[in-house]
Amino acid sequence: MRILILGSGGREHALYLKIKASPHAEKVFVWPGNGLVPAADRVERAQIADSFGELKNFIQAENIAFTVVGNEAPLVHGVRDFLKTELPGHFVFGPDKLGAQLEGSKAFSDAFMAEAGIPHGTSFVATSLAEAKSALPSQTLPIVLKADGLAAGKGVSIHEDYASAEKKLEEIFEGRIFGDSGNRVLLQKFLKGTEASLFALCNGEDALLLPSARDYKRALTGDLGENTGGMGAYTPGDHLSEAQKIYTHEKIIAPVLKKFKYRGLLYVGLMIASERADDLAVVEFNCRFGDPETQSILPLIEGDLVEYLLWTDGGRADFPLIKAETAKLVPYRRGSVVNIVIAAAGYPGAFEKDIPLIFPEHKSKDLHVTGAGIREHQGSYLSTGGRIANVVAYGKDRATARALAYEYLAAFTAANPTSREKLYWREDIAQNT
Ligand code: GLY
Repeated sequence: MRILILGSGGREHALYLKIKASPHAEKVFVWPGNGLVPAADRVERAQIADSFGELKNFIQAENIAFTVVGNEAPLVHGVRDFLKTELPGHFVFGPDKLGAQLEGSKAFSDAFMAEAGIPHGTSFVATSLAEAKSALPSQTLPIVLKADGLAAGKGVSIHEDYASAEKKLEEIFEGRIFGDSGNRVLLQKFLKGTEASLFALCNGEDALLLPSARDYKRALTGDLGENTGGMGAYTPGDHLSEAQKIYTHEKIIAPVLKKFKYRGLLYVGLMIASERADDLAVVEFNCRFGDPETQSILPLIEGDLVEYLLWTDGGRADFPLIKAETAKLVPYRRGSVVNIVIAAAGYPGAFEKDIPLIFPEHKSKDLHVTGAGIREHQGSYLSTGGRIANVVAYGKDRATARALAYEYLAAFTAANPTSREKLYWREDIAQNT
């Protein structure tokens, strides 16, 4: 089968590696991919967001049977609906436009959770600066502000005081830093606890859970600094108990399946307040795999990822399901995977691009590097984004995986003496839960 993956980040690179290893994969393309994806498999064209004609032509010309949508923008703009209508029989991984609004509009998601009785950080939705400012004093600190629409992982900020929240609201409504995505802003109570990301493969009726992951959203070591798309992750996130997974399956994922006949990947971002099964709340839904969690989840999964992904679109059903009480889990091997993001210093604020990068050789079969904001340039590499690459290490336990990843970063530092000060990575990934 010829397979196309849409997207360019570490997540799509991880999907590429796992899909390429499947016996079903005759040829795999990544559109546009990144500089660490082999050039022969990259489709060197602009990233697809909302214009799908060129995509249809490529799929037909290359005789592609299955499109795996990695990133949210095409889904929110209806790429599944388009391909299913235009190319009958073509398999697509990802939800339809309505289901994707769970990520595409935080206000939509908030309203759905309220209606379905799903525990979440309740919000005030403001449609103007005046409305937001008048609601501000009645919110408890710290306050979370969320732009309603897509904002490339930058739409959420946490404020310890009213003045900084007010400044941010001015930037959003008057400065239009998020464009139309900031036409509405959610003011939310800050949820305390430990974050867990639980991913469910959904086929419209049923869900298969992947091992949970712990994402590190704050930019700086010690959980300081601004919120980012994610600075590292580890799997399994053993701070999420079986009882909590079952609760999440029954009370959170099942209502999504029922309401939206949801297909593809449902990302449930949770805040775990205590060990009690129901003492958790949804921080966010996303309509695609998480980044950087996917880089740590996929290397642990056993079985054929292509079959699991096809199952979401009615492609195949004859693969093993492991039933644990009511939660169905994709089988995964023992051990742990830790992923550390190499970022540009300053990310998610202003940062330099075109930082030269050298990736030293290593001998461990348990370690690999995936690209994100990086391009190939005359046989070497230059950064193109805030999150540049991911160091992904497997170990028999989390401490072993973590040590291997940081050992590689020490070698990477030695290989990049000039660029090092322009780069940043957290020193505490996978240290504590
Ligand atoms: N790691 C957070 C996200 O993928 O949105």
